[in-house]
Amino acid sequence: MTIATIATIAIILAAGKSSRMKSDKSKVLHKIGHRSLIGHVLALTEQAVVVVSPESKDIQEEVLKSFPGTTFAIQDPPLGTGHAVKTGFDTLPEIGENILILYGDTPLLTKETIDQLLASNAHCTLLAMEPRNPDGYGRIVQDIQGNVLRIVEHNDASLQERDIQLCFGGAMVIKAELLKTFLPKIENHNAKKEYYLVTLVELLSHAGHSVSYITTDEEELMGVNDRSQLAAAEHVFQTRMRNKALQAGVTLCDPTSTYFAYDTVLESDVTLEPHVYFGPGVRVKKGASIRAFSHIEGAEIGENCAIGPFARIRPKTILEPSSKVGNFVEIKNAHLKSGSKVNHLSYIGDATVGKKTNIGAGTITCNYDGFHKHQTIIGDDVSIGANSSLVAPLIIEDAALIGAGSVITKNVSKGSMALERGIQKEIQGGATHYRRKRSKD
Ligand code: UD1
Ligand code: MG
Repeated sequence: MTIATIATIAIILAAGKSSRMKSDKSKVLHKIGHRSLIGHVLALTEQAVVVVSPESKDIQEEVLKSFPGTTFAIQDPPLGTGHAVKTGFDTLPEIGENILILYGDTPLLTKETIDQLLASNAHCTLLAMEPRNPDGYGRIVQDIQGNVLRIVEHNDASLQERDIQLCFGGAMVIKAELLKTFLPKIENHNAKKEYYLVTLVELLSHAGHSVSYITTDEEELMGVNDRSQLAAAEHVFQTRMRNKALQAGVTLCDPTSTYFAYDTVLESDVTLEPHVYFGPGVRVKKGASIRAFSHIEGAEIGENCAIGPFARIRPKTILEPSSKVGNFVEIKNAHLKSGSKVNHLSYIGDATVGKKTNIGAGTITCNYDGFHKHQTIIGDDVSIGANSSLVAPLIIEDAALIGAGSVITKNVSKGSMALERGIQKEIQGGATHYRRKRSKD
């Protein structure tokens, strides 16, 4: 199967207008599960050319960040899906054996379906569906033996043809040589005066080439054109991710309140309480538990770690096994070694914290001087007293102890105690005197 995938170049169509999204950015850059719509489609392909409009700099820049091998073809003006495929096809230096054609706004297609499509031996294989409401879709017309004859667009279909339930889903695989021969033959004799890709089907079957189809469910072919379809696609995507996690042996106390990114990896025996949110780039290892209302992105959570409730873990964080991050704690670009604890109300940023070190409540790493970020390095078995400010750059060596309420600005050596605070005053009888005075006011 993978051999077929590698041999296949994909042409992805994304040059249409995105007016219904009411957005300053291209439709296909909107995200579900923290990945753009076009990113979901590109992830199904090995090698792709994306057909875009001339105003698509944003698409090109964004796509190249995650899929650097992608090439682009500019369709100007957009004269229909057939014209778009021709525009893409004409830019290919080599064409290979098969061409896979996909639409950039159908992010829920799965790899399994694409592999099925590629496994077909026909000259052209269509991805089809039987939607609850076929209005607007191209209908697949067959003869009585079930041979595919042509696709008729909704606007061009007769009343009889509109009764056909089998619709074209917007993806196909076709022999590259046939595409080369038949693309120039597509004409625009239709209601919209566009060069339709689907006209190929009639040209191929007339010339005696085999056209087959496979079906998949409507949900997989859901197109995203407006914000409510974007929300609906997000819903389907999240349901898939939740089911995948449950099947992988993860406990989700309230699956519907858990939000995943496209690349979230959860190992078995992870437990998630309700309302846990994953941004991109998170891996949670075996046995870790994440309590309610935690927000985590760009982090590796080690085995048996305990996070939250109400923890915020930001990118470039590594938590080694059995470390703990408690309530109202923010961690950013920090490495906590095994068994270390930051249990309450702290900010640890740009820092390394050694093994079995305890960071007291309210500790802040003061990492930013208004111009640059600086590192805080804390050794093993260190105890940081509550409400300490650690002014970076700073090194606190192994087994040191910081007194509560200190503002630490100088390095602390191994085994030392450091504290910095004002001298405490005590006025004998002062409290009694104060209360007496206030009660007369
Ligand atoms: C298309 C199919 C229809 C099918 C449906 C499935 C055609 C003619 N019709 O209709 O049979 O049932 O998809 O969803 O193909 N695009 C370009 N350049 C253009 C025109 C379109 O790049 O000149 C891109 C769009 O950005 C979009 C895709 O092609 O990603 C499909 O175009 P769209 O206008 O949405 O086609 P449909 O009317 O939905
Ligand atoms: Mg469409």
